[in-house]
Amino acid sequence: MFNRIVAIICMILSFGQFSFDAGIDEINLGGNLFLVNRTYKLDMRYVPEDLIMPNVLSTSEQVLMRKEAALALEKLFAAAQMEQGFVLHAISGYRSYHTQKTIYNRKIDRVGSAKRAQKYVAPPGASEHQLGLAMDIGTPNRAGLNEGFGETKEGIWVNENAHRFGFIIRYKRGWEEITGYNYEPWHIRYVGVEHAQKIYEQDIPLEEYIGNLYASKEYQVEYTVKDISE
Ligand code: DAL
Ligand code: ZN
Repeated sequence: MFNRIVAIICMILSFGQFSFDAGIDEINLGGNLFLVNRTYKLDMRYVPEDLIMPNVLSTSEQVLMRKEAALALEKLFAAAQMEQGFVLHAISGYRSYHTQKTIYNRKIDRVGSAKRAQKYVAPPGASEHQLGLAMDIGTPNRAGLNEGFGETKEGIWVNENAHRFGFIIRYKRGWEEITGYNYEPWHIRYVGVEHAQKIYEQDIPLEEYIGNLYASKEYQVEYTVKDISE
């Protein structure tokens, strides 16, 4: 237990200082509570087995998510439409390790260094998009993903309601030191309704939520991180 708490605290304090390449079992804390970030990375071979196309409006030909998350996304988008008349679009869901690598390298070329690039784009293995549990969303009248989405009526509604369907806003403003990423109001992450509700109420980053679960000994699931890169 002590080692795990130390590992979590180190993880929170030192993004990019060290990392583990883990198999999917090693980063699963039970249910949909997986932790993927620049410290806890996914193995390059990991591909979720139950990817499907959610039945939602999309700007891409093929957006994929794990089945449970995809069905929850359909409910979230339907509620936005029915309760508010808002139209939401799915923009980017599951991304393979190699796709993430391409996007990351492109970002480095654009901004000039890996240090700057990784505030916006996760390095390969470090993206929740590889988990199949994250979706970048937007509205029809906003072409790109940008911070302004958070100020739109749709973005404000998503921020206040995504938890009802099991999603959290993963990278909020003010959490940059903990999550390792700039504010991304468009990136929603499926964790299941129970955890999403609590994370919403506590208004804390996933890293802190998981750290608290360990510290309070509430969490029974063994969490080990194996370096399988050797
Ligand atoms: N933009 C997020 C951090 C990702 O690349 O996964
Ligand atoms: Zn994203």
